[in-house]
Amino acid sequence: MSTDQDQCSTKKLQGKVAIITGGASGIGEATVHIFAEHGVRAIVIADIQDEKGKHVAEAVGSNLVRCSYVHCDVTDEDQVKDMVDWTVQMYGQLDIMFSNAGIVSPTDQTILDLNLSKLDQIFAINVRGMAACVKHAARVMVEGSVRGSIICTASVSGSKGGRRRTDYVMSKHAVIGLVRSASLQLGVHGIRVNSVSPSAVATPGLCESLQKEVKEVEKMYEPLTCLKGIVLKVKHVADAVAFLASDESAFVTGHDLSVDGGFTSW
Ligand SMILES: NC(=O)c1ccc[n+]([C@@H]2O[C@H](COP(=O)([O-])OP(=O)(O)OC[C@H]3O[C@@H](n4cnc5c(N)ncnc54)[C@H](O)[C@@H]3O)[C@@H](O)[C@H]2O)c1
Repeated sequence: MSTDQDQCSTKKLQGKVAIITGGASGIGEATVHIFAEHGVRAIVIADIQDEKGKHVAEAVGSNLVRCSYVHCDVTDEDQVKDMVDWTVQMYGQLDIMFSNAGIVSPTDQTILDLNLSKLDQIFAINVRGMAACVKHAARVMVEGSVRGSIICTASVSGSKGGRRRTDYVMSKHAVIGLVRSASLQLGVHGIRVNSVSPSAVATPGLCESLQKEVKEVEKMYEPLTCLKGIVLKVKHVADAVAFLASDESAFVTGHDLSVDGGFTSW
């Protein structure tokens, strides 16, 4: 039987205020649920899928956890700034930024056929948007003297070359560079900056881009990991994000946490 003390120790984000970009779907949506389970005081879901985002906010919000949806296209710095400022006005401070919104290349994008307009679109979200979220979260944390935690979603594609999706691979390498640089610069303020790097996980975004069902996607990627008898689910990624957001990782910064069943060990 669990005691009150056990319950308290499992609530590793008690009283924190968090923003989750891309929180309407996939990894972001799963993280909204995990953060709520761990006792956050408030979550702001920032996304462009308004119906889905509002639905997640309504499903998670309660007397204990305030959950709001804000329409925010991360490619627009003004929208990012307004969303971050709104969060601080509404909930008093910002402790956690999970900068997660991102897309995969809609086509193969091999170097010989690289469409640079499509590359610009990917970079606008995965790199520029990610940088805007880190920048504005860090600014309010510094202003509020909050020793916050910023987590970005990178990818196993951030540390390996790709046979295709060159632009996506480039964008995720850039996220790792952002995290390393921001962690160096923000450490003086006590702000930690880390990333999670999942291997393939069958989210709505990945399934749609591959035009395949969840089971098909999981079967497709299963041979690529060395860890057998388990399939990567969004909850595994969200658990890693909760660890990086919490005081359990109090001395961890500038780190890229792989959640990949050994994929990058090959
Ligand atoms: N699914 C995977 O296999 C995988 C692996 C490694 C990394 N990732 C990364 O994980 C993150 C989340 O992806 P997912 O797989 O959960 O996909 P998803 O499509 O299910 O969720 C992504 C969310 O981001 C939102 N979004 C997209 N563009 C946006 C914008 N301009 N402004 C605000 N929100 C925007 C979408 O509306 C969506 O709700 C991405 O950064 C992705 O690159 C995914």
